[in-house]
Amino acid sequence: MRTIALLGATGSIGRQALEIIGAHPELELVAAASGSQPVEGLAPLTQVGGDLTELLDRAQPDIVLNAVVGFAGLPATLWALEAGVTLALANKESLVAAGELALAAQRRGGGLLLPVDSEHSAAFQCLEGREPEQVDSLVLTGSGGPFRGRTREELDDVTPDEALAHPTWNMGPKITVDSATLANKGLELIEAHFLFGLPYERIEVVLQPTSIVHSLVRFRDGAALAHLGYPDMRVPISYALTYPERAATPLPPLDLSSLALEFQAPDVDTFPMLALAREAGEKGGTYPAAYNAANEVAVAAFLADRLAFLEIAEVVADVLARVDGAPARDVEELVEVDARARALADERLPVA
Ligand SMILES: NC(=O)c1ccc[n+]([C@@H]2O[C@H](COP(=O)([O-])OP(=O)(O)OC[C@H]3O[C@@H](n4cnc5c(N)ncnc54)[C@H](OP(=O)(O)O)[C@@H]3O)[C@@H](O)[C@H]2O)c1
Repeated sequence: MRTIALLGATGSIGRQALEIIGAHPELELVAAASGSQPVEGLAPLTQVGGDLTELLDRAQPDIVLNAVVGFAGLPATLWALEAGVTLALANKESLVAAGELALAAQRRGGGLLLPVDSEHSAAFQCLEGREPEQVDSLVLTGSGGPFRGRTREELDDVTPDEALAHPTWNMGPKITVDSATLANKGLELIEAHFLFGLPYERIEVVLQPTSIVHSLVRFRDGAALAHLGYPDMRVPISYALTYPERAATPLPPLDLSSLALEFQAPDVDTFPMLALAREAGEKGGTYPAAYNAANEVAVAAFLADRLAFLEIAEVVADVLARVDGAPARDVEELVEVDARARALADERLPVA
C-alpha cells in the first residue's frame, strides 16, 4: 500500500492522476489539494489554497504528487524533498526556480525524485542504471506547439484561443501557452539540468511534431536509447506512482506502422524563449527563477488579452537583463527574487 498526497487535484495532471489512483487498489489517496476549486470528498484530508505543507504535515504521505501549476508549488516540493518521501514532480517550475536549494533538500532528505514531465520520465528511464561517464548527451523532444513553422510576422496577432489549441497534448492553460512560445521546452531544459546533473551544452532540444519520441539519451559508444509512446500523461503519472513496478495502463500498444517520426531543429529566432532559458540556465544563480517568474506574469497577461504573444519573450528578456541573478542562500531569498522579478515584469506590462 502506498499513500499519496495529490496537489493540484483539479488540474489536467491531477484529474489523470485520480484515474490512475482509482484503478490501483494498492495506491491510496490520503490528501488532495487545489488552488480554489472544491476538492471536498476526494480524499480523507483536503485543502483549498493556503500553505499546502500544512496538509502534508497532517497527511504524512509516502508519495507527494506535485501537480500544482507555477511557483506556488515550491513549498510542497521542498517539503517532500526535505522529508525524504517520494516526490512525483509535475510542477517543473519549482525545480527550475529552486534548483540547487531543491537538490540540497533532496540530499538531506534522501528520498526519490521521480519526474512526471513526459520527457524527463522518458530520460529517467533511458538513464536508469547507467554510470554518468557512459552518457554523452540528452535530447529533449518537443512537438513545437501550435505555431511550429510560423514566421514572426505570422505570430504578431495570434490570440490566446489559438495558442491554447495544442496539436498533441491536452494540458492546463499555462503550460499550453508555454508550449506555444517554447518556454515549456526552456523550463524543461533547466529541469533536466537539475534532475540529471548534465551541463547545458550536453542537453539538446529537437522537435518531433507527433510527440511519439519523448526523449533520448546518446551514449559514449555511439548508441542512443529513445523512449516512445503515445502522448498521454497517464503513462508517466502511472510510472512515477507505481515505480519501479511499471503497472499496466489502459493505453493500447504502440502501433509502429501508423507512425511518422520526423525530427527538426527548433526555430530559436522565432521562438526566443528557448534561447533565453538556456542563457538563464547557463548563467545560473537565480536567473532561472527570474525567467520563470517573468514568464508566469507574461503568460497570465497574454491569457488576459493584456499582452501580445511576441511580447511574452520581450518581457522575460527585459526582466532577465534587469535582475542581478545572485544565488539565493535560502528559500526566503528565493521568494524575494521571485517577487522582484514579478514586479519588474508587471512594470513592463501595458497599463490595463
Ligand atoms: N498538463 C500536462 O499534460 C502537463 C505535462 C507535463 C507537466 N505538467 C506540469 O504540471 C503542472 C500542472 O499542470 P496542469 O496542466 O495540470 O495545470 P492546470 O490544469 O492548470 O492545473 C493546475 C492545478 O494547480 C492548482 N493550483 C493552482 N494554483 C495553486 C495554488 N496556489 N495552491 C494550490 N493549488 C494550486 C489548480 O487548482 P484550481 O483548479 O483550484 O485552480 C489545479 O488543480 C504544471 O507545472 C505543468 O507544467 C503538466
